[in-house]
Amino acid sequence: MRVVIKVGGALIAKNFENVVEDISNIYLKLSDKYELVVVHGGGPQINEILRSMNKEPKYFKTPSGYTTRYTDQEAISAAIMSLGGLNNKRLVEALQKRGVNAFGFTGIDGGTIDAVRKDKIVVLVNNKKLIKRGEYSGKVNSINPQIIKFLLKNKYIPVIGALARSEEGDIVNVDGDRAASQVAGSLDADVLISLTDVEGIYRNFEDKNSMIKSISRIQLEELIERLEGGMKKKAYAALESFKNGVKKVIICSGLIDSPILNALEENGGTSVHDA
Ligand SMILES: Nc1ncnc2c1ncn2[C@@H]1O[C@H](COP(=O)(O)OP(=O)(O)OP(=O)(O)O)[C@@H](O)[C@H]1O
Ligand SMILES: [Mg+2]
Repeated sequence: MRVVIKVGGALIAKNFENVVEDISNIYLKLSDKYELVVVHGGGPQINEILRSMNKEPKYFKTPSGYTTRYTDQEAISAAIMSLGGLNNKRLVEALQKRGVNAFGFTGIDGGTIDAVRKDKIVVLVNNKKLIKRGEYSGKVNSINPQIIKFLLKNKYIPVIGALARSEEGDIVNVDGDRAASQVAGSLDADVLISLTDVEGIYRNFEDKNSMIKSISRIQLEELIERLEGGMKKKAYAALESFKNGVKKVIICSGLIDSPILNALEENGGTSVHDA
């Protein structure tokens, strides 16, 4: 069974010990059953790096109600440092210490993830639409899974930072969940597990009793407008996964013990199924 695991930047900031422990257990004991691929984000670390350079991260509201990062030259440099450096190599280091031969790279390496650069974004400032140019983020367009398949065949665990190559050849920041969703599609993965810092999707984020255990694609399409922030984006990426051919998406916390095994056994988290 092929499993793509998205490890969120927010989770990496808090604690990824449980995740690497779980990955190594699966790799060492259950490799005849599961093949794992890791895709990771790095939002909070990008902000930390920017602040250490005395730069404030820039966020804007979009007309459709999202909050979006303005990825200028400084932010994309920080993204390269986080996704191609610190976060990526810390994950590889932690996995290798546990006997897993992890291989870290980003979507630009080997042209693994291709994206369309946004170039400009439309944002709201004082309720007025403004065009910001010089944006270095992109929308994932296609995956070349050759390197990933080569690594899997040779028993490495690929650890992929969510950067991509634009049509012009520029390095761009991409949404980690969407990258994971497309990677999963390109590998005909059976399941995509998005490990984050909350237990799953809450119908109402304020109400901790409203965590959804199981939801169909169609029900999630209806709920999505009521979701906010990172979870709204994650829900969109989950829906996109089904279009990419993935059969199941599980959104769950990476802060608990054995988060991946639990998710595979349908214990905890929000399970989204294609119906
Ligand atoms: N209804 C909701 N249910 C669950 N989480 C929600 C909801 N609404 C908003 N959230 C927020 O969404 C966050 C998860 O998305 P976020 O994008 O921050 O994390 P991530 O995708 O794991 O990390 P990254 O984007 O850095 O890779 C939660 O930490 C929570 O604060
Ligand atoms: Mg996110």
